[in-house]
Amino acid sequence: MDNKKKAFYITTPIYYVNDVPHIGHAYTTIAADTMARFKRITGFDVLFATGTDEHGQKIAKAAEQQGMTPLELADSVVLKFKNLWPILNIKPDDFIRTTEQRHKLVVQKIFERLYEKGDIYKGEYEGWYCVPCETFWPESQVEGDVCPDCGRPVEKFHEESYFFKMSNYQDRLLQHIESHPDCIKPESRKNEIVSFVKRGLKDQSVTRIKTSLNWGIDVPFDSNHVVYVWFDALINYLTVAGYGVNEDKFNFYWPEVMHLIGKDILRFHTIIWFTMLMAADIEPPKIVYSHGWWTIEGDKMSKSKGNVVDPYQVAEEFGADAFRYFLLRELSFGQDGNYSRQLLIQRINYDLANDLGNLLSRTIAMIVKFCNGSIPVPSASTELLDSELQNRAEETVEQVIESMEQVSFNLALESIWSLVRRTNKYIDQTEPWVLGKDTHKKERLEQVLYNLAESLRIISILVYSFMPVTALKMWDQLGIKENLENMKIPEHANWGILEPGTKVNPGANLFPRIEEMKKSTSAENAERKDSVGRVTMEADNKNNEVPTISMEEFQKLDLRVGKIISAEDVPGTSKLLKIEVDFKSETRTLIAGIKGFYLSEELIGKNIVVVFNLEPATIRGIRSQGMLLAASEGEQVVLLTTDKEISPGSKIR
Ligand code: MSP
Repeated sequence: MDNKKKAFYITTPIYYVNDVPHIGHAYTTIAADTMARFKRITGFDVLFATGTDEHGQKIAKAAEQQGMTPLELADSVVLKFKNLWPILNIKPDDFIRTTEQRHKLVVQKIFERLYEKGDIYKGEYEGWYCVPCETFWPESQVEGDVCPDCGRPVEKFHEESYFFKMSNYQDRLLQHIESHPDCIKPESRKNEIVSFVKRGLKDQSVTRIKTSLNWGIDVPFDSNHVVYVWFDALINYLTVAGYGVNEDKFNFYWPEVMHLIGKDILRFHTIIWFTMLMAADIEPPKIVYSHGWWTIEGDKMSKSKGNVVDPYQVAEEFGADAFRYFLLRELSFGQDGNYSRQLLIQRINYDLANDLGNLLSRTIAMIVKFCNGSIPVPSASTELLDSELQNRAEETVEQVIESMEQVSFNLALESIWSLVRRTNKYIDQTEPWVLGKDTHKKERLEQVLYNLAESLRIISILVYSFMPVTALKMWDQLGIKENLENMKIPEHANWGILEPGTKVNPGANLFPRIEEMKKSTSAENAERKDSVGRVTMEADNKNNEVPTISMEEFQKLDLRVGKIISAEDVPGTSKLLKIEVDFKSETRTLIAGIKGFYLSEELIGKNIVVVFNLEPATIRGIRSQGMLLAASEGEQVVLLTTDKEISPGSKIR
């Protein structure tokens, strides 16, 4: 905490641990990380938190289905979230789990406080409950036994429950929203919330009786009840800020809070949360910003459709910064958008490889060629082109600050890219390679190259919050010694700071182009390779001429036994199955062309033989990490398997 700075506290939703991370989780957390970095670079003292929501019926059910205790499930899934963030270049200051003791105490404290005030009372709940949304629904709002929000079946129950007197806070909530017009964003969703509240707030059930659910935090004065999961979860924001434990910290960061959430959970974060805080005499957060949802290749994302985007996989294939750039650039933060592999590749090729990557590599190469690798000394310039470039850079800094103030990541990136393109155009207009041929033009050449490097320095500072690793690589190639992470906007983004004489450091291309045509052909090849066709082809070759190999060559093959744990169709293909194979040390995904020869169910539990060290290939957007062996004769295809049971992962010699 630095009291000389302004405080800024930013949060993501805390994620349920019944499921592994997907693009939705990555999206909000990338946005929050970008905002946290930007606030830091503009001089704020930032607290950035994320975490996991581990109680409630949904988690209890998922754990039961998997034969685990809820805590065992949470302990295993939480790692999938914790480990993902550094891979996506995300650096939270705190990661909260609702099963932690520090959180339990705060929830109990708030619950008790509201009870003592008379804002929580005991009653009877009769109505519906949606487990996937963890939402109570009154009789009047449910039609056809399905959840009005998500459309999935709801459960009916009648039990003793404690209620929070939310109805008491209806007018105060409306007044608060009116007097703090920016507290709910975007505007259109704020209006939906206001009309919802105006229709009348009912009291909110805030406990479950233990005989129907015991996976939760105990009500402090009544051990027959556990606290309702949303009441518990929302309080995480207070726990992280040090509520009741570290008053200095809490008073510093609260209520300078920005909650970033998805549009589906806005009601919880404005109506329930704001009124809970009012009841506890705590100021509501400054801003709750709800973003839109991603569809995948034009379709709703769902497990049953098999189109869930795995952030680990995207980061591995395309790099975390490219993923960050795409998600923040492609759409305006409040809007829904479509994720597509093709669009991602286009962004990488055009914006990142062509525009940014080329600008850096061209500039560095020319500084090496014409100035012995040192940033030249610029002489005073009267050229219009130069002042235009400088003005554009200065305007860009202002536009980026303004856009980030509005939580417009895409507009901020548009402004930065407009500067990137302007700088590329400056190269075309000034033609340094022509200047380099004429010794009388040396001074002009040096002015031009200095301007290019200076523009890139400012671009690196601006890009840093969005693509931290890329910005650090740019900084490194420019050869600047100070730490980029200590730079401040706007001070260090002013024109003319770059030190002449700095030795540049040529490096690899920031973003190699992705040759989609080549990729798809190689995917097709891989498809053929992994399909039966390949086996047949090889068998055919054998009858013709296959060269003899030495023992040494054979030993290069790493063949292992794997046990199939699941198999499913690859949508849109006639031959391919996606198979998960256990090798003991790890589980791998394989794409194999055996559909039609085996039923998926029949494959589960079979031992197979796999080429374990085959170079991975991406087939239909899925990474295949190995190839299974099969024998074929005419139309028939038979998997190679083991004669007796043997542990998965065993080597074949
Ligand atoms: N545990 C609650 C939040 C409690 S916060 C006090 C929860 N968890 S969640 O794991 O379901 O969170 C999901 C988050 O991902 C939500 O913000 C949701 O809007 C977001 N998304 C889920 N699918 C999404 C897309 N397809 N696209 C974008 N975001 C989506 O809710």
